[in-house]
Amino acid sequence: MFESMQALPADAILGLIAEYNNDSRAEKIDLGVGVYRTADGRTPVLDVVKTAEQRLVDTQDSKAYLGTAGLQSFNAAMQALTFAGTADDARVTTLQAPGGSGSLRVAAGLLLRARKKPTVWVSEPTWNNHIPLLGGAGLELKPYPYYDTDQHVIEADAMLDALRNVPKGDIVLLHACCHNPSGLDPSEQQWRAISDVIIERELLPFVDMAYQGFAADLDTDAFCIRHLADKVAEMIVTNSCSKNFGLYRDRVGSLSVMAADPKSCAVVASQVSNIVRTIYSVPPDHGAAVVEMILNDDSLTSKWHAELAQMRSRLRDVRVLLHEALKNSAPNRDFSHLTRATGMFCFLGINQEQVNKLKTDFGIYMIGSSRINVAGVTTDNVDYLAESIAAVL
Ligand code: LMR
Repeated sequence: MFESMQALPADAILGLIAEYNNDSRAEKIDLGVGVYRTADGRTPVLDVVKTAEQRLVDTQDSKAYLGTAGLQSFNAAMQALTFAGTADDARVTTLQAPGGSGSLRVAAGLLLRARKKPTVWVSEPTWNNHIPLLGGAGLELKPYPYYDTDQHVIEADAMLDALRNVPKGDIVLLHACCHNPSGLDPSEQQWRAISDVIIERELLPFVDMAYQGFAADLDTDAFCIRHLADKVAEMIVTNSCSKNFGLYRDRVGSLSVMAADPKSCAVVASQVSNIVRTIYSVPPDHGAAVVEMILNDDSLTSKWHAELAQMRSRLRDVRVLLHEALKNSAPNRDFSHLTRATGMFCFLGINQEQVNKLKTDFGIYMIGSSRINVAGVTTDNVDYLAESIAAVL
């Protein structure tokens, strides 16, 4: 049966986890997969999550199925966190899903049922897994320009021009904040211009929000969604709680679909429910129950806000730290774009050969495009990192 199959290369991002773990060099540095790290290199469970988990263990009295949409109170809380009242609740349906990826997969299923040949326009570049995940589900993907790799800026004019030429009714995938991989987001003014084109061309905005709270704050990071919410008839939003709640392996996310009216919203809800049943049946509960508890308890919510702010500010600090170290070790090269980016990622701006050399000669791991997760930078490793980068330039 399986003799005709070929082994596939490891995933460009997840494959690095094993490679890094198998490297015995003490000085190795992991700038690969997007997980937050503390100043001493750990990815701990958030204190507020530990508190909520304890409460959950003490009070949960059943693990019986909840149904395809998961926990309703989680869904309501995620809808509020996403839209903050800017969308008409009667037109939005939100459903718990296994992480941002699970939400994206269900959204893809919905688009495939709604249209004969749906085309989704994605930023060039976009998250490595957007292409196999959405493309593998059967959607046609086409790129729009986004990032100028020489100047390290958003190609806003080229992006707007491209979107103006997208056929009416097509779908546009946007990153709400902390664009993965570039770390560069449109300004509010640019978001307004993008929204105008979306409205003019009657495009369907599909916003992926995997890093809410990692750029400026929870509200500012949702600007594009809230700006669009009262202007467009339909919209799709996928959320991930992997990063902002640190619940990576628990797989917590949500999918919100805004429909033109309450009647079609009910139809969409029944369709997504049916799609879920045909993929994973019901979502995992634990992480979502934890998030729901945090979002529905004022004291836990403020603890979460504080821990999120701490993560956000460390990510900002290490960007500056690395930039300063690079100014010393590679004075002829401008790395200032590192500090203009937000969230976990940015491109270093080196080629694949240099990326490989950093791995083999120095034990420094990043994905082939030179996307780095700045959370891997610490005061202890920054000099070694900057000197190693200078050595391969
Ligand atoms: C990343 O981009 O590194 C993260 O979103 C983790 C993943 O699943 O790829």
